[in-house]
Amino acid sequence: RKRVVVMISGGGSNMLALAKAASEPGFPAEIVGVISDRRDAGGLTKAAALGLPALALERRDYDSKAAHEAAVLDALAGFSPDLICLAGYMRLLSGAFIQRYEGRILNIHPSLLPLYPGLHTHSRAIEAGDAEAGCTVHFVTEGMDEGPAIVQARVPILPGDTPETLAARVLTEEHRVYAQALRDVAEGRVRMTARS
Ligand code: GAR
Repeated sequence: RKRVVVMISGGGSNMLALAKAASEPGFPAEIVGVISDRRDAGGLTKAAALGLPALALERRDYDSKAAHEAAVLDALAGFSPDLICLAGYMRLLSGAFIQRYEGRILNIHPSLLPLYPGLHTHSRAIEAGDAEAGCTVHFVTEGMDEGPAIVQARVPILPGDTPETLAARVLTEEHRVYAQALRDVAEGRVRMTARS
């Protein structure tokens, strides 16, 4: 089974969904650790409840982005991961970091990329009058929320939707497709080919 580290900044519901999927018999990956850039991330409590090794490395405890990333890379190396799943990790990784794990970092983003990279995806989709919203699991490359898509899920935007009601509808789909994407990558059915 592929060894997976999940990186989080917040509630960790996607981390939990991956951990649940990984606990099913026959799943091709196991969650071996959780790394948060915030000590107060709700996902750390959830990870501890599952008995998953979890640690927090806060940016403010380091002098520079490079020093923080070096510490995160050290922590990662300690888990010997085959794959890294970013699950609400709200920090842009440097090119050097991404190259270290080229083709082995997955991210989930709450929009139908290439629409709405960055923040506030749901309010932007509602304000644009879009009929649909959704989420994308993709391989991480250097730009923010770029990189080849592995799977997307779509949901309708309904009359009266707020960013919160839409986020909840999308989040349910995130949990489903992230587990599916991890399975596909771990089984080698999907992989990132060399960039041109
Ligand atoms: C999820 O909606 C995820 O798609 C989003 O943060 C949320 C984390 O929720 N990620 C991004 O916006 C990354 N650009 P969770 O902590 O409950 O999984």
